[in-house]
Amino acid sequence: MVLCIANGRRLRGGASLHGAYKYGLPFERSKIDTNHLIISVPSYSTKMSHPMFSPDFNFGVNTPPESPTKGHAPKRSFGSHVHKKSDSWGSLIDILEHGIPIPTSLNSGAFGAIEVPATRSPEAHVSQYMNALPAPPSAKERRLSRNSFGAALPIPRSKRQSRLSSVTFANVQDALSSVETDGAKTGVGSPRNILVSQVQDVYAEKVRAAKNMAFVFDIDGVLVHGDRLIPEGRKVLEMLNGNNQLGIKIPHIFLTNGSGKPEAARTEQLSRILHNPVSTDQFIQSHTPMRALAEYYKTVLVVGGEGYRCREVAEEYGFKDIVVPNDIVAWDPSIAPYRVFTEEERASSRPRDFTKVEIEAIMVFSDSRDYATDMQIIMDLLRSRKGRLGTVAADPVSERIPIYFSQGDILCPTEHPIPRMSQGAFRIGLEAMYKALMGVDLERVVYGKPELATYKYADEVMASWMENLHGEERVPENIYMVGDNPASDIVGGNMYGWNTCLVRTGVFQGGENDEENPANFGVFANVWEAVTTACKKQLGDDFKFTWDNRVNPVLHGRASAVE
Ligand code: G3P
Ligand code: MG
Repeated sequence: MVLCIANGRRLRGGASLHGAYKYGLPFERSKIDTNHLIISVPSYSTKMSHPMFSPDFNFGVNTPPESPTKGHAPKRSFGSHVHKKSDSWGSLIDILEHGIPIPTSLNSGAFGAIEVPATRSPEAHVSQYMNALPAPPSAKERRLSRNSFGAALPIPRSKRQSRLSSVTFANVQDALSSVETDGAKTGVGSPRNILVSQVQDVYAEKVRAAKNMAFVFDIDGVLVHGDRLIPEGRKVLEMLNGNNQLGIKIPHIFLTNGSGKPEAARTEQLSRILHNPVSTDQFIQSHTPMRALAEYYKTVLVVGGEGYRCREVAEEYGFKDIVVPNDIVAWDPSIAPYRVFTEEERASSRPRDFTKVEIEAIMVFSDSRDYATDMQIIMDLLRSRKGRLGTVAADPVSERIPIYFSQGDILCPTEHPIPRMSQGAFRIGLEAMYKALMGVDLERVVYGKPELATYKYADEVMASWMENLHGEERVPENIYMVGDNPASDIVGGNMYGWNTCLVRTGVFQGGENDEENPANFGVFANVWEAVTTACKKQLGDDFKFTWDNRVNPVLHGRASAVE
């Protein structure tokens, strides 16, 4: 049972917890015994009350995924986590009644994925945007009896699986050591490194604190705008890569809803723009955790992105048989009546007889470059018999193949002055069409921020990056998420128990804080302001944000002892 204490008073659990979640208030947990948990929400106001969660909902959001090193994954179906009350997000799903089991075609116990319960409703968001169409009563019955999907999102299980080839720099340590600080080139045993180690000996306490904090950076709107650098982004990365008082590398990873390129290509591009090394080992795109899905489906339709780049992504992830919309248009151009298909596109596509191919799942990896064609093909597949094009299922709802989206952002900041529509807008359009044609909501799975699976995966990457940097495979205690989008970066970080910093260089253009999803650590003009404020909190107000080669550790040690 959870006892909720807000402003010193005991409140109905559902009301106060919903308030805390909705307004992103800090809360503390303390366990009395195995059956009782106290949640304190000191800054809760009764105005925030809106009963929604059941009283035994708990916020134990930091429960790590099962250790990837503990041997083989147990045999289980996708939906097996849904009723696991010990996991708060699982409870949330129970409470929201979204526990629809996923069909399992798995027969191997040695399965390389962790299944994370979905925290977003598998139901379409479309009902709030259009008049609801009545579902035929028979559809309801069918729903109850059929297997569906949407209850769990697999993420890669093992550390090795999480790591994609790091080609940005052959050796991450060398790359990081190569960051020039104060004009000094460094290397193992260099005068700077000797000095760094002496300084770190003197400030052992600060060093411990620096290794116990980490940053998670959103990219678009925080560090860059498309291909354009946000200058504070470069400055921040130089500081975190060693240009600071301790000469220490303060851990940081990148967590973007961006997509559409292999990780190595995107990190190379970012390294160039940011003038700092960005390794694939510290980098997560929206579709990166979807790598785990390669173990579940053989033939998939991959949608979105420029040219054939998402086919490349899917190949790298290990998908065995990848179809893209161009392959289908090349096979039968009449499927997309408004498409002008060039000879070059025809020559580069891979047509075959798709009436004989069972496409098992649809993966929208990135933004569609041709809404009309992609939506038509997706709708055809969703209505088909077992994913065979040219067929229409007798019972299309119960036979429907699953559809996954790599992220849900509706808007994205770009070089254009007004944010552009993103994958979420495409999805909502598709949901509306599906409901209009089929009379029922489209169930789907959405990865990316703020989905829990993405944050759990970020923990895996963070622990592994910590091992790279400091030889300690663990997640630091004080994590700061810096983002520009309250509806993805901030709400997800708040839910996951991170400190959240909202910056004004991207999507958020509001007042003091975002009203729906306020950042719990504050709102900052830019990423430099956010990061330096967080560093001062963890490392002291006197912490310096440049490395000084002229520092004399002996004198500084004495001086600090006297101070
Ligand atoms: O919404 C699309 C994507 O470009 C957002 O990227 O880095 O802000 O999560 P990011
Ligand atoms: Mg952003």
